[in-house]
Amino acid sequence: MTEIRIPEYDIDPQFIKRWSPRAFTGEPIADATLLSFLEAARWAPSSYNSQPWRFVYAKNGTEHWPRFLGLLSEFNQSWAHNASALVILLSKKTFVPPGKTDAIPATSHAFDTGAAWANLALQASLSGWGTHAIGGYDKDKARQTLGIPEDYALEAAIAIGKQGDKALLPAGLQEREEPTPRRPLAELVAEGGFAFA
Ligand SMILES: Cc1cc2nc3c(=O)[nH]c(=O)nc-3n(C[C@H](O)[C@H](O)[C@H](O)COP(=O)(O)O)c2cc1C
Repeated sequence: MTEIRIPEYDIDPQFIKRWSPRAFTGEPIADATLLSFLEAARWAPSSYNSQPWRFVYAKNGTEHWPRFLGLLSEFNQSWAHNASALVILLSKKTFVPPGKTDAIPATSHAFDTGAAWANLALQASLSGWGTHAIGGYDKDKARQTLGIPEDYALEAAIAIGKQGDKALLPAGLQEREEPTPRRPLAELVAEGGFAFA
């Protein structure tokens, strides 16, 4: 696997080391550990420093856990039930510009919140924890169950846990439990103007 994870240019190894496992041990996560990942997230850049990200979470084994796990698709529940925490990542769709009193639509709430997710994932990886973003969940049910106002977009669910043996996974997922490659940089970058297939 390592041969498909070689950067083309010199970068910090943290970017290659992070990946999204599905096999988690289910062990408890301390509040201070979980909050340190969200702390990293809140230092992300955002338009006007509007900080549109919000995090609603449940830890495995708490009274909240079944409600959060029950939001995920059947497929995602089949592995995420062993996560230590689930975070629902929200973004606020309006903000009050500096010096103004009225809220206006935020044009980059999703973009900014994606940056917060990347910070979260990298901090968790640096701390020896795994994260896995999840788009396969019932957003309408989440909005209703968690009481999320219309002014907030649901961006993703995030499973957080200590990586475990892939034998913990359902049979069909065990062979998929490995880091993925990336497209060559040349397919993604163009100098001077759009030049992609
Ligand atoms: C917004 C978003 C939604 C995703 N949804 C799911 C999902 O529903 N189920 C799943 O197993 N993985 C999901 N993933 C994980 C991606 O498949 C994974 O990040 C991608 O293949 C790259 O692999 P890596 O994170 O290991 O580098 C999602 C990732 C993102 C960023």
